[in-house]
Amino acid sequence: MHSLRQSYEAHGQGHVFRHFDTLDAAGQAELIRQAGEIDLDEVDHLFDTLVRHPGAGNDAIAEGLSPAEFIPLPDRGGDAARWAEAAAAGEAALRAGRVAAFTVAGGQGTRLGFDGPKGTFPVTPVRHASLFQVFAEKIAAAGERYGRAVPWFIMTSTINHADTVAFFEANGHFGLDPEQVHFFSQGLMPAVDGDGRILMSGPGEIALSPDGHGGSLRALVRSGAVATMEAAGIDLISYFQVDNPLVRCIDPAFIGFHLLGGSELSSKALPKAYPEEKVGIFCRDAAGRDVVIEYSDMPDRLTHERDADGQLRFRAGSIAIHLFDRDFVKRLGTGGDASVALPFHRAHKKVPHVDGTGARVEPTEPNGWKFEMFVFDALPFAKNPVIIETAREDDFSPVKNASGNDSPQTSRDDQLRQYARWAKAAGIDLATDGTGLPTVAFEVTPRFADTTERFVAAWRALADPPAIGEGTIL
Ligand code: UTP
Repeated sequence: MHSLRQSYEAHGQGHVFRHFDTLDAAGQAELIRQAGEIDLDEVDHLFDTLVRHPGAGNDAIAEGLSPAEFIPLPDRGGDAARWAEAAAAGEAALRAGRVAAFTVAGGQGTRLGFDGPKGTFPVTPVRHASLFQVFAEKIAAAGERYGRAVPWFIMTSTINHADTVAFFEANGHFGLDPEQVHFFSQGLMPAVDGDGRILMSGPGEIALSPDGHGGSLRALVRSGAVATMEAAGIDLISYFQVDNPLVRCIDPAFIGFHLLGGSELSSKALPKAYPEEKVGIFCRDAAGRDVVIEYSDMPDRLTHERDADGQLRFRAGSIAIHLFDRDFVKRLGTGGDASVALPFHRAHKKVPHVDGTGARVEPTEPNGWKFEMFVFDALPFAKNPVIIETAREDDFSPVKNASGNDSPQTSRDDQLRQYARWAKAAGIDLATDGTGLPTVAFEVTPRFADTTERFVAAWRALADPPAIGEGTIL
């Protein structure tokens, strides 16, 4: 303890222990635990390089950028035979038990403002099934289809870990074998004030927050998840975020393109809906490496630039769906070699804290700096990265905000539109509005079908198909 405190003093962070003597034994132990997990040199370095002396601005980032190449969908100019070949390769990998699903669910979900882990949010139109339930059912369906249960790794953070695990237990793991579901927590980083001093959220509590979805790579290694995968013969990790109920958790064609391309990290892209859409953009940098440039770092000029046929030139948006090679995760997540480590980014946020007297401060303006890693920063480190196009309506409708864009309402409507498309493909007579939204709310569970083809087949196999009306659940 003595040396820990000294080290905090030496780093100008002695105030972290200012109220130590007033804490009870448990409080003291907890503060020592929190303080012991922070790498003070790293915090100093990040503050110095990202806040005090921030590097080059947007123009330097944009220097020499061109759009990254991606494999187009068959109905948008892609090679249908190649897509079929990829799907077959992906299915073979699934039948061989090489694939794990991986959900990053450690975020704080501040924009949604839901009281609880985001994965427990009731997202479907009729059953009000949670995001976790939707993924569990898709993963179970894939396991049954390919004859091999798909292990599911879920990254939480200490803030929501216990509630997440309790939710799965209370719901019988949604029918999955509990042994198939692996939880682990990601790392935390302290928030600092404008002088680089660590903020305290209570007299004995450091203001910690998760280290970003990019923290998943080191958390996969540190938690032992990568070793578990290795022991089980899993070398492909299907990565998706907790907020997107449309995501194809397990997508054979995506897996296949990754394998056929000898890729270490593959990604899905979709054309931006409008120039300012808040998604990162797949670009090729001046050194010829594929990178994702955050929308906020993309110079306006490039955001709006159009090519000869009028399409946005930089249109391939990143929707945070990836396929990782396990050994690539191991290489990046092990650390020790700064040349293959993900960089941190800074974010200026309102961080509630206690001041020097122990009084609580609820800031009305951003007062603190948080440091986060982004998973897409792994891209330039990957050998043979593959990017494939996907259809927005079949892969992406996230729940980010309480209302407006990317909200529970838009995501619910997108789920309904998907069910309606499937129903129409099966020849069902269903009334929809001009946007394809059905006039009745019904629900197709992933166990019934999770693609058009499977819906059509499952529907035709019904001996006595029901009339689809308000509240129908298939
Ligand atoms: P977002 O960037 O949308 O953040 O995360 P968020 O925490 O869910 O929501 P806001 O910004 O506070 O409103 C995208 C995905 O990355 C995960 C989230 O759980 C979500 O699945 N994530 C984010 C983590 O797992 N860890 C993090 O540190 C940050």
